[in-house]
Amino acid sequence: MTQVLSQRRVILGITGGIAAYKAAELVRTLVRAGAQVQVVMTKAAEAFVTPLTLQALSGREVKTELLDPSAEAGMGHIELARWAELLLIAPCTADTMARLAQGRGDDLLTTLALATPAPIHIAPAMNQQMWAQASTQANLTTLIQRGVTVHGPAAGEQACGDVGLGRMLEPEALHQAIEAALVSGALAGQHWLVTAGPTREAIDPVRYLSNHSSGKMGYAIARALRDAGASVTLVSGPTQLDCPDGVTRISVDSARDMLQACQGVNADGMIACAAVADFRPAEAAQTKLKKGEGDLNQITWVENPDIVATIAQSPARPRWVIGFAAETDNALANARAKLLRKGLDAVLANQVGDGVAFGTDDNHLHWVDASGDTDLGHAAKSVLADALVQRLITLTKD
Ligand SMILES: Cc1cc2nc3c(=O)[nH]c(=O)nc-3n(C[C@H](O)[C@H](O)[C@H](O)COP(=O)(O)O)c2cc1C
Repeated sequence: MTQVLSQRRVILGITGGIAAYKAAELVRTLVRAGAQVQVVMTKAAEAFVTPLTLQALSGREVKTELLDPSAEAGMGHIELARWAELLLIAPCTADTMARLAQGRGDDLLTTLALATPAPIHIAPAMNQQMWAQASTQANLTTLIQRGVTVHGPAAGEQACGDVGLGRMLEPEALHQAIEAALVSGALAGQHWLVTAGPTREAIDPVRYLSNHSSGKMGYAIARALRDAGASVTLVSGPTQLDCPDGVTRISVDSARDMLQACQGVNADGMIACAAVADFRPAEAAQTKLKKGEGDLNQITWVENPDIVATIAQSPARPRWVIGFAAETDNALANARAKLLRKGLDAVLANQVGDGVAFGTDDNHLHWVDASGDTDLGHAAKSVLADALVQRLITLTKD
């Protein structure tokens, strides 16, 4: 392994969940990549993995106590908080998420989180029911709004036997995320345009044609691109989502508005994730259409412009143009056809249905390009967004 993290200073916080044992592997790979890793454990974490193991792997005494006179005589908690270039909490329990969201400082780890100027990353890990709890989700939203970067969780079988979202990301994925954050700027200097959400096509003053897109995938991609150092413009149809910090959002309604907004952005790369309505009424009625009066028959439907194809085939084409293909059938074959027909560099294929893709927090994506297709797996949209950005980093280096 190359020493790409040479001398980079990371605090790894470990909290009391089953996945704590995986943190040992993460310490090992970070140290092998040259990082200085200071492990900080909560009381509960010590019940799952011993400080001795982590001390042996990190080569540093593990810190566990806040009110520790001897530690304060050496590198005290404020100095440690300032020393860090990045604080990663992996695994991060529901309890620690709650304490972070409340701004509590009732142990060393949460106090460091309050005191550090470094970016905070968390890798939540918990039973799927705990993850789905409204309280945990509210804490998650608060943390994201405050700029905490959240990795995962992934979906799958859990230690308790349940199946669902809540597994900690594998150490390798977390290692890559930390590398991307610290050796940042893998996409620095690049400007990416992302479209997200549905469009609304006016039928009359009170009705519109739209779809179930929540915008979550596109917003997650915008966040992941930002984390990789890109400047990001998000052209978004109507959604309930907050714009990620540091991302410029242009809010639009219809497909034609979205195309116009995209044409006004001078980007190096574009990811067209929006679920654009294929059709619209040729003219929106001036007054509300009435039932029983034959008004329905007056609507003439016309096709909307194909945004990604228009941009991909324009003289001002960004260097990289990536599309999405959400299909109910034959997702891969349709994605391949789209790739060729529209002149794209890659297409992300997702099979819609069985509760996956539209509106959900997780998704299953395949990356399809001229050389074949790669299964990016089934995971939280934020995880897939990070995996997608890793591919973009490779693509843009070629
Ligand atoms: C066997 C066992 C496994 C646990 N696994 C998890 C877990 O994976 N995720 C979690 O959020 N809490 C888990 N808990 C509960 C936490 O340990 C508990 O909420 C604790 O207070 C967390 O403290 P900390 O966040 O300070 O580490 C588990 C508890 C037990 C007894």
